[in-house]
Amino acid sequence: MYEHEFPLDPNICYLNHAAVAPWPQRTKAAVEEFATENVHLGATHYPRWMSKEFELRQQLKALINAPSTDDIAFQKNTSEGLSTIAYGISWKAGDQVVITNQEFPSNRIVWESLKQFGVDVIEADITGDNPEQAITNAISKQTRLLSVSSVQFGSGIRLNLHALGETCKKRNVLYCIDAIQSVGALETDVEAVHADFLVADAHKWMLGPEGIAVMFVAESARDKLTLNEFGWHMVAKVGDYDEKSWEIARSARRFECGSPNMLGVHAMSASLSLLLEVGVETVETAIAENTRYLIELLSKRDDIELLSPTESHRRAGIVTFKVQNQPTDEVFEHLKSNQVICAHRGGGIRFSPHFYTQKSVLENAVALIP
Ligand SMILES: Cc1ncc(COP(=O)(O)O)c(C=O)c1O
Repeated sequence: MYEHEFPLDPNICYLNHAAVAPWPQRTKAAVEEFATENVHLGATHYPRWMSKEFELRQQLKALINAPSTDDIAFQKNTSEGLSTIAYGISWKAGDQVVITNQEFPSNRIVWESLKQFGVDVIEADITGDNPEQAITNAISKQTRLLSVSSVQFGSGIRLNLHALGETCKKRNVLYCIDAIQSVGALETDVEAVHADFLVADAHKWMLGPEGIAVMFVAESARDKLTLNEFGWHMVAKVGDYDEKSWEIARSARRFECGSPNMLGVHAMSASLSLLLEVGVETVETAIAENTRYLIELLSKRDDIELLSPTESHRRAGIVTFKVQNQPTDEVFEHLKSNQVICAHRGGGIRFSPHFYTQKSVLENAVALIP
């Protein structure tokens, strides 16, 4: 399916979409076209670039089921989006933020940095059978915000975002989702899960470039964030350079202070056009089949220990494992030298196939595990 979009070197087994994904062919074409236009015409057609920027907001609205393009802001990356949120809320000493004990540093450090305001971070241990219950148990009267990764970067465990959203709603807690490991891989519905905030960079499952991320801010949450970055682009009357008075834009554009990353916009939009053409439901089913097959292949070896959940509702695109009696860094080096592109994460080897990954790639990679 869509192999022509991914003319990867046949000598490599690319199983690293949870880190940085390859671009589809059409993204390369879009970037080349944009570069050629810049060389020959500069910004002559800037209004067309602005239309592309709006098209990307529409694509993202569809991808995460946001109520409006007004809820979508671009950020540089997930970490920046989480920082915009963390430093937008007015905290008081004694407030708590709940996260999990498996978060990628981006969704831990920023909350820990709020210690200067007297904010405490509570880590829920999600290693047990019922991670949502563990998270709910960590929520107290002092909890102002819950921030979780939809899918954990190491173990690959997928959380029930809807159940957590219900809890947050009931307990009057703001709900923030680091969705970089799921947007583009899994169907995402910010409304259904009652998300206040969701952030995800383009370079993993969305198959886009690094340096451009989507940040969703629900309309009801928008005024809860004070702004820390200002410029010409975040005002209501954008483009009216002679007007000295200004108001903050009603939309989430208020979080974008200056010129957009137009190169990233063109690239990300091309990548998303592929995912939306295939359909995220189809993408999700294909990823589920790839991870199921990987688990089947890995389970044939008695000396391989799976570190990722095996139940289908608990996993997304990540399968992490250890080889008994072999140091993981040696296993990783061996795979790397045999052109298996994967990662050393969560105490094991992380394989992360996407929807287009061929079964033969999975078979070859597993055969190369020492
Ligand atoms: C769960 C999670 N959040 C955040 C990041 C980093 O995101 P960014 O570089 O967009 O800040 C990663 C990268 O691996 C991740 O896995």
